[in-house]
Amino acid sequence: MDSILRYALLLCNNNLELNNFCQLSKNLKNNNLEPTNTSASSVVSNLDFKGSIETFPIIEAIKKNASEANWCQTYSISEVGEDFANRHCYFELIGPNGHFYNEAIRGFVCYWGEYLNYNWHSHEAEEIYYILGGKALFKTKTMTKVLKANETQFHKSWESHAMETLEEPLLAFILWRGKGLDQLAKMDN
Ligand SMILES: [Fe+2]
Repeated sequence: MDSILRYALLLCNNNLELNNFCQLSKNLKNNNLEPTNTSASSVVSNLDFKGSIETFPIIEAIKKNASEANWCQTYSISEVGEDFANRHCYFELIGPNGHFYNEAIRGFVCYWGEYLNYNWHSHEAEEIYYILGGKALFKTKTMTKVLKANETQFHKSWESHAMETLEEPLLAFILWRGKGLDQLAKMDN
């Protein structure tokens, strides 16, 4: 997991939007989380994610070390449907319960299979998406746009947002800050 962290910190330093969102220390304590699997996580190491020059190193590090990660899937089938629950997973790289301890910022590596619809949801924490590989349609109540590797999307506290993956799987690095750091996203009704 050290190499994934190293590349994530490099991205946070080198990307202006990520750097404006947070500054992370290089010395994060390893929480020594146990590796876990979900139904989706086993495919991550075998997929071709369309990355960029900036994201290629971390994509390769994630694929190479996928079996070491503490993969989660926290939505129930009744909330998101069986297909979504089976083809989405994430791990907390940085954070209070992440692979590397930080109390003020959470950083997640997230995977979605192609043609998944992540319905409207929200959370108190402020958020920035950074696309590592693939592309997806991002929606807020005021805009809709396709995001691809090395592009970012910011969501304010409690701002509803939705996302649809297109013909490619998506790998993203997501950062949270501020209040509500200890909570999960809620599907809007
Ligand atoms: Fe979000």
